Amino acid sequence: MAAANHNTVKYGIIGVGMMGREHLINLYHLRGEGVAVVAIADPHIPSQQLALELAQSFNWPLKIFSGHQELLNSGLCDVVIVSTPNMTHYQVLMDIINHPKPHHVLVEKPLCTTVAHCKEVVNAARKRPDILVQVGLEYRYMPPVAKLFEIVKEGSLGQVKMVAIREHRFPFLVKVNNWNRFNENTGGTLVEKCCHFFDLMRLFVGANPVRVMASGAIDVNHKNEIYDGRVPDIIDNAYVIVEFENGSRGMLDLCMFAEGSKNEQEISVVGEIGKGEAFVPESIVRFGTRVAGRDAVQTLKADDDRIKYDGLHHGSSYLEHLNFLSAIRTKGEKAPAVDLQDGLISVAMGVAAQLSIEKGRFVTIEETMAEHKF
Ligand SMILES: NC(=O)c1ccc[n+]([C@@H]2O[C@H](COP(=O)([O-])OP(=O)(O)OC[C@H]3O[C@@H](n4cnc5c(N)ncnc54)[C@H](O)[C@@H]3O)[C@@H](O)[C@H]2O)c1
Repeated sequence: MAAANHNTVKYGIIGVGMMGREHLINLYHLRGEGVAVVAIADPHIPSQQLALELAQSFNWPLKIFSGHQELLNSGLCDVVIVSTPNMTHYQVLMDIINHPKPHHVLVEKPLCTTVAHCKEVVNAARKRPDILVQVGLEYRYMPPVAKLFEIVKEGSLGQVKMVAIREHRFPFLVKVNNWNRFNENTGGTLVEKCCHFFDLMRLFVGANPVRVMASGAIDVNHKNEIYDGRVPDIIDNAYVIVEFENGSRGMLDLCMFAEGSKNEQEISVVGEIGKGEAFVPESIVRFGTRVAGRDAVQTLKADDDRIKYDGLHHGSSYLEHLNFLSAIRTKGEKAPAVDLQDGLISVAMGVAAQLSIEKGRFVTIEETMAEHKF
């Protein structure tokens, strides 16, 4: 069996459902970089079994635990990935951060389901400078998104004024014990999945959000489903407007009954000078300037040669791991690209949007942060 040597960075995966196994496969494709998955923790036997079969096919010996605490106490891992359901992130993260043995952490988005829990995690992590934490806001790494960001950074579009992100896709998938059917478990659709897009808006406009206005509902999906006598309450469509500190504006158009779309994400960024667009999964980027006009709009195919495994998210999980590994190997000199503050603000924007729907008015980020004081 292929055993990890003393230079190998040893990973443990907490929660080996769909995304945990996706991390396992990504790390296998990174084996040339000196990484190995040595342990998993999951109470659900079918998830354990599927992960074990994968590891066996990779010739990776694996210790299996039913809970994260046993995995941490085993002392086997240098790095842990948290890919458990959203509502468990808080407790699992606090236990990792408070454990005497330092473990670097890659936590799936959203950081936590509430602002209060995110803040507690941020504060606890501050006291552990020996631990690196990266948040899985991986859309930043998708090649067309990264290319569009490069164009924005070069200044080719001028000062960004508007960012519109359309996600039109299939409904939420079925998860282990159907945890993703209820807001109390996910944080709400605008936290659960849209934290990705709020993070991208911040990245493109280069500023923090001030206030959020949203309209949304559960109109089509999950209406005929019942779990323990309850019908799901997760919204399946919304429009969200975000205003930023520098006067820029963002807009999210989310529809989760739109399988009849060529692209799942369409991003438009407009500055004073020009406009750029990114399309996923077509992996196309377009950009042009006001002066040169429509005839001079350029179209590029965005690729990244470093990607050895495309997986479920167009190579972004692979690049996310590559980035985190580089932060780990440089012992934090190269900070994780997506840090806890990014995780916190993306959740705060989602919470503000969910509250805005409930209250029917603009919700400020300040009140979202204050309302959830601990
Ligand atoms: N990056 C992305 O775009 C992306 C995509 C999908 C899911 N996710 C995130 O990944 C996480 C997992 O989602 P999923 O789709 O894999 O769900 P899933 O239901 O397929 O898997 C979750 C697994 O966690 C296990 N689990 C539950 N509580 C646990 C605990 N306390 N300790 C250890 N294991 C536990 C479950 O038994 C299950 O096997 C969620 O936070 C989700 O939001 C991110």
